Amino acid sequence: MKTLSIDIRRADPQDADAIATVHDRAWRGAYAGIIPHRPLNAMIGRRGPRWWANAIRRSATVLVMEIGGEIAGYATLGRNRASELKQNGEIYELYLSPEYQGIGLGRRLFEAAREMLVAHGFQGLVVWALEENIGAISFYEGAGGRDAAEGVEVFDSKALKKVAFVWD
Ligand SMILES: CC(C)(COP(=O)(O)OP(=O)(O)OC[C@H]1O[C@@H](n2cnc3c(N)ncnc32)[C@H](O)[C@@H]1OP(=O)(O)O)[C@@H](O)C(=O)NCCC(=O)NCCS
Repeated sequence: MKTLSIDIRRADPQDADAIATVHDRAWRGAYAGIIPHRPLNAMIGRRGPRWWANAIRRSATVLVMEIGGEIAGYATLGRNRASELKQNGEIYELYLSPEYQGIGLGRRLFEAAREMLVAHGFQGLVVWALEENIGAISFYEGAGGRDAAEGVEVFDSKALKKVAFVWD
């Protein structure tokens, strides 16, 4: 039996292609049937390898989870953008390729992102999830998040509720 190593590290611009692929597959898996097809395609189209390479080179903090040399997931994090919430940090995105979901890897990536926020001096963290993304909602509830605020995102003419989970 082959043993695969799991590594969580800061992304390098050379990871841009692989992250774009994970992003595309994870977003279609999570949001098809929730976000209308047209805006979903447009959002995914904007986030190609070039977009990711720029994001990695700029200050945005991007973490990747690498399993046996393959990028299985990514997280982006930084300062909390919602002034009504007192927590300083935010995990903007946390996505795994569909074949890596449901086996405990999301929990590991979440903890690594949380530790990195602490290392950057942020106290507390916020994560937003669409209310219809039931898997994500269960995941953040299971990770001890407290449901602290609600908001709305509009995609074309469809308004979707989002929920903020916080950790102090
Ligand atoms: C959400 C996501 C990051 C969770 O990572 P994961 O590796 O699948 O989750 P884990 O295996 O670490 O599960 C941890 C806990 O979350 C819960 N959970 C995870 N996915 C779930 C799902 N689809 N439905 C219900 N509960 C789920 C489980 O209860 C699990 O608890 P357990 O350990 O007691 O069984 C991952 O499934 C993913 O990338 N999903 C698609 C994209 C997405 O929705 N991202 C979040 C956007 S806000």
